[in-house]
Amino acid sequence: MQEQLQKIKQEFLKGLGEVKTALQLEDLEQVFFGRKSGKLTEVMGELKELSGEARKEFGQLVNELKRELEKLLAEKKREMEDKEMGDILEKEKIDVTQPKLPAKESGHLHPNTIIQNQLEDLFTSMGFMVLDGPELESEYYNFTALNMPPNDPARDTQDSFYIKDHPDWVMRTQTSSMQVRALQKYGAPIRMVVPGRCFRNEATDAAHEHTFGQLEGLMVDKEISIAHLVGVMKELLRGVFKRDIEVRLRPGHFQFVEPGFELDMKCLVCGGIGCGACKHGGWIETLPCGLVHPEVLRQGGLDPKKWTGFAFGLGMTRLVMQKYGIEDIRHLQGGDLRFLRQF
Ligand code: DAH
Repeated sequence: MQEQLQKIKQEFLKGLGEVKTALQLEDLEQVFFGRKSGKLTEVMGELKELSGEARKEFGQLVNELKRELEKLLAEKKREMEDKEMGDILEKEKIDVTQPKLPAKESGHLHPNTIIQNQLEDLFTSMGFMVLDGPELESEYYNFTALNMPPNDPARDTQDSFYIKDHPDWVMRTQTSSMQVRALQKYGAPIRMVVPGRCFRNEATDAAHEHTFGQLEGLMVDKEISIAHLVGVMKELLRGVFKRDIEVRLRPGHFQFVEPGFELDMKCLVCGGIGCGACKHGGWIETLPCGLVHPEVLRQGGLDPKKWTGFAFGLGMTRLVMQKYGIEDIRHLQGGDLRFLRQF
């Protein structure tokens, strides 16, 4: 009998040593203490067959063993619960005393984005809305609505990416494509700018890219004149260069403005005397602009007898290059980190 108890104990200790999960521990408990077929329970049952002194003696031994094993079982249970809790705490631990470590490599804004943000702030401060438009545009909004009907030779000046199997779609060649969309949606009076990417089938070189940024501006109201146009353009240049800039207008031709202008700014490098930066002319071609053509107003659902406006198209990428002294436009989208890290 004693041998039998010894064997049970050994089996139990062996089983306990192998337990790794709470489930296994429960199984072990069943095997030894299970009410019907637990090994210890069975031994207790055998007690009934004994009598007198032997029964008393053996009963004591069985009870002792039972208590011992129960104790071991409870200890193991506690140990496992502690470990489980410890694991959870470890996983969720936050060391509040740890100093904030510098990020290994934090990102920063692209120069295009820096300038775009500044322009958006500037125009917002003058009461302009900032609109976003589709880059894949209908040929109607990109050209026809802007007084450039199909077969208009003016379309040839913007070598466009058309989309295979979709003759009416074009990657927008200019953010002017938002003029009529905005007029149709918001009506007049309106003040809006549209910063964004434009696409042309350019042979790329230091000054040309297939993808470049423009910022279109449009203001329509009652009795808008060239004076308003010049006023806003000067404010724009003051915001960008942080000083008053002298400007002049030359005639320019764009189908969607009448009259159309090229707005030049006086060269900041030489003050207008003439230098390498302004090709010795004293002026730098900066902004194409003009008064909105009546046909564009009509396409936008407005009566040109009641409403007038001005529009301008700022070459954002060119502005970024001027501001930061970037000599090759291809750097901007080349993805070379040595270039990008400078900003
Ligand atoms: N969208 C024209 C271009 O890309 C630039 C332009 C010219 C925009 C005159 C205007 C404008 O709004 O009035 O060549």
